[in-house]
Amino acid sequence: MSATKYTAPHMMLHWLIAVAVGIQIIFADAMGASFDAKMENIEIGTGWTGGAIFHALLGATIGILMLWRLALRLTTDIPPPPESAGVIQTVSRATHWLFYAILIGMPIVGALAWFIPSETLAEVHDVTGKVLIGLIVLHIAGALYHHFVAGDKAVLRRMLPR
Ligand code: HEM
Ligand code: HEM
Repeated sequence: MSATKYTAPHMMLHWLIAVAVGIQIIFADAMGASFDAKMENIEIGTGWTGGAIFHALLGATIGILMLWRLALRLTTDIPPPPESAGVIQTVSRATHWLFYAILIGMPIVGALAWFIPSETLAEVHDVTGKVLIGLIVLHIAGALYHHFVAGDKAVLRRMLPR
């Protein structure tokens, strides 16, 4: 029989990562400012400000938690997608896998941008951040659509304890 809910560790990781990503995006401009300062005074100091250290540590943590979550996702049953139009299912599946790719890829590209240092990789990291924000908006809209418009309340509940 297929699962009707996500497992407790999977749910815990989902909400922990959602909060961490929210904080990471809200405070990311401190890292942007530190990176610009580092590029302008490249020969003096290491460029590590409090904001940069926070961004790097939280970003690395998100990447590690995402790898743990990917391992769970690939080894445990998850509930089947709700009944909806094929295009909605495709967008939903693509959004979920892009979250994995972006949240594992961003810390690596960000670290390379910082340590090389590379303006090009910083640009890639910035653009990916914008795509991530778009995906989050789409994902939340999707969850609310299922709950309030399509009336399949099981979708949100299966990601919530109880
Ligand atoms: C999933 C984890 C991460 C997310 C969601 C994220 C998100 C962001 C965002 C949205 C920005 C744009 C800030 C701005 O200029 O206003 C940014 C900048 C930056 N991040 Fe990250 N980041 C993550 C992990 C990391 C890690 C681990 C590092 C390693 C040191 C890093 C290094 C940088 C650097 C160097 C910049 C400045 C790039 C620039 O301004 O062009 N990031 N990050
Ligand atoms: C940065 C924030 C978020 C990220 C990165 C994220 C990521 C994901 C991913 C990758 C999945 C697919 C299941 C999995 O493999 O874990 C998922 C499922 C889900 N998320 Fe999020 N999520 C975020 C925020 C939210 C928020 C704010 C809500 C509620 C409004 C939400 C509601 C759900 C629901 C209901 C599911 C289950 C969907 C299904 O079973 O098809 N998520 N999320």
